[in-house]
Amino acid sequence: MVRILPISDPGTLDAAIEVLRRGEPVAIPTETVYGLAADATDPAAITSIYEAKGRPRFNPLIAHVANIKMARAHVAFSPLAERLAEAFWPGPLTLVLPLKETGKIHPLATAGLGTAAVRMPEGFARELIAGFGRPLAAPSANRSGRISPTTARHVADDLGDRISLVLDGGNCRIGVESTILTVNEGRLRLLRPGGVPVEAIEEAVGMAVERPAKQSGGGPVIAPGMLASHYAPDAQLRLNATEARPGEAIIRFGGTPIAGEDQAKAVMDLSPSGDLREAAANLFDLLKRADATGATGIAVAPVPGHGLGEAINDRLNRAAAPRN
Ligand code: TXA
Ligand code: MG
Repeated sequence: MVRILPISDPGTLDAAIEVLRRGEPVAIPTETVYGLAADATDPAAITSIYEAKGRPRFNPLIAHVANIKMARAHVAFSPLAERLAEAFWPGPLTLVLPLKETGKIHPLATAGLGTAAVRMPEGFARELIAGFGRPLAAPSANRSGRISPTTARHVADDLGDRISLVLDGGNCRIGVESTILTVNEGRLRLLRPGGVPVEAIEEAVGMAVERPAKQSGGGPVIAPGMLASHYAPDAQLRLNATEARPGEAIIRFGGTPIAGEDQAKAVMDLSPSGDLREAAANLFDLLKRADATGATGIAVAPVPGHGLGEAINDRLNRAAAPRN
């Protein structure tokens, strides 16, 4: 039986550290989505993450740190990387940086690459890493290919039979995963749009972020193992829908009714007021709810592409991509 402990309970931090010290994974809330965390320096602990998720081993994990000193022990920061960390950490920005030879992040967590993806999360997750004293590798706490969790209940429903402890921190504030950037030779490249809008990064450092070319049929070409068909609900997704088809579940945006929605199985709205932050925070939960209606299809209204809309559209495109 999986234990679910509220982060506000006084014993939760120590209980989580104890499980981590045994080399087992713990599901933890972060400001983006829930992560399945384990010691990033321990091969057996990392293996337990891949096993619980059913994740392909060539898809590397993000190492989460409590402070910049912990990050510097494992990866090399250029002046540009320092500025980004200064501007956005703690927060939903992941930096892909060269590994240091003296670093201790295990190659299983980096899939043998010469780089590691590193981020400093906010709040309880950060306290936990500080208490544990080592970086935590943490992918999103869902079975591989499924929708990312934004509540402890989502995690327990998806992984409850495979892990022993879920920490409950309520709803994730941001609701989509971190933005991933490579910082190399003074260039910034976007590997995954996420919780920090690209516009905010460009403004903070005064330079352009390069976006990879689009791949036909799916989302952009991305980090290793970022499969096109990701975040998949059971029902087929139809994007940029302007009319409802009978039996579909409808996900609107901005309170605008969709033609024929009275025939739909369910009607939801990502943000009735048209706020992209609210839409990001609701995205994965509404996809799961729409899926749970048993609708044959889920029709999603157009969502603007600026700011957090870039991450929202990226996740929707992946969820709609053909499956194998
Ligand atoms: O918000 C988040 O980033 C959440 C929370 C839990 O922190 N984590 C998350 O992890 O989304 P995950 O494993 O679902 O996504 C990590 C992505 C993967 O697409 C992986 O391929 C990429 O990061 N990645 C990891 N290490 C990399 C590296 N060295 N170079 C390029 N991409 C890397
Ligand atoms: Mg994931």
